[in-house]
Amino acid sequence: MKNDPNAWWRQGVIYQIYPRSFADSNQDGIGDLNGITKKLDYLQDLGVNALWLSPINPSPDKDFGYDVSNYLDIDPKYGTMKDFEHLIHEARKRDIHIILDLVLNHSSDQHRWFIESRKSKNNLYHDFYLWHDPAKGGRVPNNWQSVFGGKGWEYVPELGQYYYHMFVKEQPDLNWRNPTVRKELLDVFRFWLKKGVDGFRLDVFNNYFKDARFRDNPINRLGIRPFDWQTHSYDTDQPEMLPLLQDIREVLDSKPGSYAVGETFMGGVKMAAKYCAPGLLPGTFNFAMVRGAWNARTLQRKINEWDQAVDEHSWPTQVMGNHDVRRIATRLHASQDDQRLKQAAALLLTLRGTPFIYYGDEIGMRDIHVSKADLQDPVGVHYWPLPLGRDGCRSPMQWDESEFSGFSTQKPWLKVHPNHTQRNVNQQRSEKDSLFHFYRKLIHIRKENEALSQGMFLPLTYDPLFVMAYLRQTANETVLVVLNFNRRKMKFFLGRELANRNWQLLLSSNPEQETTLQSSFLQLSGYEASIYKTI
Ligand code: GLC
Repeated sequence: MKNDPNAWWRQGVIYQIYPRSFADSNQDGIGDLNGITKKLDYLQDLGVNALWLSPINPSPDKDFGYDVSNYLDIDPKYGTMKDFEHLIHEARKRDIHIILDLVLNHSSDQHRWFIESRKSKNNLYHDFYLWHDPAKGGRVPNNWQSVFGGKGWEYVPELGQYYYHMFVKEQPDLNWRNPTVRKELLDVFRFWLKKGVDGFRLDVFNNYFKDARFRDNPINRLGIRPFDWQTHSYDTDQPEMLPLLQDIREVLDSKPGSYAVGETFMGGVKMAAKYCAPGLLPGTFNFAMVRGAWNARTLQRKINEWDQAVDEHSWPTQVMGNHDVRRIATRLHASQDDQRLKQAAALLLTLRGTPFIYYGDEIGMRDIHVSKADLQDPVGVHYWPLPLGRDGCRSPMQWDESEFSGFSTQKPWLKVHPNHTQRNVNQQRSEKDSLFHFYRKLIHIRKENEALSQGMFLPLTYDPLFVMAYLRQTANETVLVVLNFNRRKMKFFLGRELANRNWQLLLSSNPEQETTLQSSFLQLSGYEASIYKTI
């Protein structure tokens, strides 16, 4: 089936919730499904069309939900299947779609399949995972590493074999070449689609296959972790991926309107574009804006590259943060006036492609500082004192100024950022020029103006020093976006053709900006983001 140009996920905005940290309804210090349901009015008011929930399946939490012990159930700490059905129902009433996180590269070692698999080489489930005999002298079968530290192989003496895990050892990798595994996992998609979800985020999907001959990865000595010292020729992006994506697409298309976005693990822009080609995944993540320098020149280059790489019949995504990386506000060392965060929001929400907002970014939440004793994330624990842990961006949502920020009445699993007494939803909702209201207006104008939700992307600047400008355009309307990355005021010259048109201001982060464009140049205040429209 061809991508529908009017699909909700092309025009909408997706909001990522890390369920442990969003809202705790039963006051045990951990967020839950009923907590999310209670906040649906807030999310509707913000204007988002879909919620991507980080995993809610049963999990021993060695990697906080990304180690699943049952793909077809809900973890009791988040609630029951009834609670989930209720969430879907209430979300649908508000025109909000639910997207689940499917973690299918690996399961938990507590999954029934793995428990069986390690019982004996003859067990029916043995081949569900990647087992291998030791190399000479009992050594590991090859040089593959775990991203989370150490070798990628774990020895099981009772079997005299190793199993492979790309992440922690409690996350054994599944063997997607086994036809029963493939069928069972495709059935997981079918099960949740039937339950009423409208899409999936596919965790590290491009890792599903590993080299059938288990060849060593070539060595290249760059990077902090041993994992980075290799070229990942054989443990990722194998050719079997493309036909599997066609099968996944077929399952998705069996329920029209279903969406899936793949987490392109380690892959750059080209890889991300390849996997969202027509007939494959409806969306993939390109993480170019999540890391690296934040200036007009670098961003323009990354944005153009992504826009050009994606097939004209496909649809990009835009992302600036998630549960694995530092928050945008932390990265920008933003002062408390939020001008730069408004600019980042304007960029995220006016580019071509589905924008993903990470919970709390709409109020400018910052990463918390976590001391060694309080570390939760296995990556943080393994690499300490290197600051590679991901707890910082997973702190409880800041709803109000109370002791635990309105997230819970009990001490939460991770501490609340001390700035919650000034930076919280309540306070920002009451201030008309707050970051929250800026996000809300951006989402609103994106919905109201087809040039923003569907239009082509036409850059007006090339290699800009400070001011980035672009048009978004359909046959019926044109929107002009101008972003000043300098803290000083700047001028942007429109050129004769554009200057002759009748531009009306849709939104500006500068409350004093003119409502129409009167001259051949636009005067911009420091870090200003302004959006104009003409028909
Ligand atoms: C993805 C997730 C990350 C998780 C890893 C292993 O990268 O985003 O949180 O630890 O996969 O499942």
